[in-house]
Parts: sequence; structure tokens; C-alpha cells
Amino acid sequence: MVDTVCSGSLLSRTGRKYRETMNGLWRHSLACAHAAEHLMGERSGEEDPYTLGLLHDIGKLALLQIVAALEAKGRFDGGLDRSHLNATLIAHHGEFGAALLEKWGFSETFQRVARAHHDPQALDPPCPEAFWIRLADLVAKEGGYGADVVEIETAADSLAARHLEIDPARVEAAVARVVAVMEGTGEALS
Ligand SMILES: [Fe+2]
Ligand SMILES: [Fe+2]
Repeated sequence: MVDTVCSGSLLSRTGRKYRETMNGLWRHSLACAHAAEHLMGERSGEEDPYTLGLLHDIGKLALLQIVAALEAKGRFDGGLDRSHLNATLIAHHGEFGAALLEKWGFSETFQRVARAHHDPQALDPPCPEAFWIRLADLVAKEGGYGADVVEIETAADSLAARHLEIDPARVEAAVARVVAVMEGTGEALS
């Protein structure tokens, strides 16, 4: 499946049915990229925060493209149920994204962030970037760029914020920054 996506034969198909979902996912990814840049800006990591944020959910985007393409070919007998589709994307996007990023030659850090950005504490050895992107992901959602996912923790009180020792005022500033930047770039994806 990863090979098929890499060949471009599925990524080139965009169904009208999923266009808004796809745009929502890109908006979320963009908001996460801005949040990551804002939050991680002062630290000296090897990887670019913006790109880490932009690609953290690439598995979801690719899986959705695949579903749209297969549906257009007449698979799934009338289309997939939306809640089933969302559950599938949530369950598999981490591993799928990591495999895709490996295939594209991205570093181990990119792969680990994609794999565990919803559960960074599960990584051994620890990956600080996964905690940062988890926080950036929550900040993007609180800014209104949520890709329709309900979270059980707030950004300010999240495990990631506590692990990174980020105070609530800094989280609030990051949300405001993301909203301001996204409102300035909103036209690009509308
Ligand atoms: Fe995700
Ligand atoms: Fe996300």
C-alpha cells in the first residue's frame, strides 16, 4: 500500500466527496506546523518544527486519498460509513504515516513523531519532538483547526505540556498566534 501511494497512482486522484475533509486535514496540519514553529522556535533540535507539524498526520491524508480512489473505482459497495472511516483513519494513520515517511527518506524523528504523536509517552527511547508535536496538535485544535477530532485533555493541562513544563500562558499565546496566522493564510485552502 505504501508503495502504491509513493508511486503517485493513488495520490493523484481527489474525489469531490472527500474534498472538504481533505481540506480540513490540510488546515489542521498547517495550523499544527505554525503551532510547532511557535512553541519549539527557541530550542535547538535537528529537525525543522514547521515540517514536523506539517507532516505529523500525513498518514491520515494518504489513507483518505486511498479510500477516495478505491471508492471511485466502485469498491465498498456504495461508500464507507463516515464513523467507520474516521475510526479507521484514527487507528491506523500513525503507523501508516511512519511507513510513508520512511519510504520518502525522512529521518527516524519524523517517523517516530508520525507514529506516536497521540501517545508520545509510549516511545522508548523517549522522543522530545513527539511531545512537542502532541502539544502543537492540541493547540491547533483549540485554535479551531481540529480535523473533527474530540480530545479528552486540554492543551494547557495536557500530559505533553506538563512533560515539557510549558505554562498555560505560553499555551494560550500559541493558540492566539495560530489563529492569527491561519486567518492570514486561510484563503489558500478555502
Ligand atoms: Fe494524528
Ligand atoms: Fe493531528
